[in-house]
Amino acid sequence: MVERQEGLAKPFVKWAGGKRQLLPAITAKIPWTRLASKELLYAEPFVGGGAVLFAVLASCPAAHALANDANPRLIGAYRAVQRHTEALIARLASLEAQFLSLDRADRAPFYLDLRARFNAHPHDATECAALLLFLNRTCFNGLYRENASGDFNVPYGKVTRPRICDAATLRADAQALRHTTITCGDFADTLGQVGPRQAFFYLDPPYKPISQTASFNAYTKTPFDDAEQKRLAAFCKALHRRGHLFLLSNSDPGGDFFERLYDGFRIERVRARRSVNANPAKRGPLDELLISNFDPTETHHD
Ligand SMILES: C[S@@+](CC[C@H](N)C(=O)[O-])C[C@H]1O[C@@H](n2cnc3c(N)ncnc32)[C@H](O)[C@@H]1O
Repeated sequence: MVERQEGLAKPFVKWAGGKRQLLPAITAKIPWTRLASKELLYAEPFVGGGAVLFAVLASCPAAHALANDANPRLIGAYRAVQRHTEALIARLASLEAQFLSLDRADRAPFYLDLRARFNAHPHDATECAALLLFLNRTCFNGLYRENASGDFNVPYGKVTRPRICDAATLRADAQALRHTTITCGDFADTLGQVGPRQAFFYLDPPYKPISQTASFNAYTKTPFDDAEQKRLAAFCKALHRRGHLFLLSNSDPGGDFFERLYDGFRIERVRARRSVNANPAKRGPLDELLISNFDPTETHHD
């Protein structure tokens, strides 16, 4: 597991479904040697906060990567971190100073004002990224959630001393992302984007809810339903046919839904602790599925 240290590449946003808890189980299966030698490209079609992406880039700085997500504002933030690092840091430092200078009572209206500005889609990409990062650090539970009109609608989080500008992490992430292609779109488009090279795909789609109320998977206004899970399984089969390696994580909904979808592939269950539920009593350990088309003991030579 990658430690939280100053100056080490790590997620710059807190994102629902972040993979910190599962990192040891996932990193044990990563074909490190073949990524380091650039024989394999690293591709992550549902990058979210990028816990696995940054773990790969921190340990394997030479690796070439493709990071994709369907959320345009999240991808805008990745691009701003990669290309406009210092302007982003300057804007966040200014927002942090303004926020921390306010009395408690004035902080919620300040938050709501910046949330409205974010939802007005500022043209300046750095401003949009700075607002996303500000909201992520000050909103309730660091969630990203949009309503049916596509507006970010998470309430103020009452965090006492949020770290709004983490310049060391942003600089480390910008450095780590220098060989990363960042794209915004549907996961299915990433197959064409990797080109003729062989790739290792790590896929972390929105979870299949364990019950209607227990899970969170509304990252965007379009739900990731069973039809989407089936489309993803067809995509994984296409990856397999083209000779790519894939590793997919998902919650275990019980029953044989995933066994049927991924018949013939390796399916492993691991225990994970999830922290999206607002009620701490409901954040217990859950089974997580790791599905792959390769034997890590054969591809993992180090
Ligand atoms: C479980 S989260 C990924 C969490 C990530 N692994 C992390 O460590 O933070 C799923 C992501 O899939 C994205 N997403 C949803 N539908 C998508 C689609 N059709 N294509 C690509 N990305 C999609 C969401 O925006 C969300 O960021």
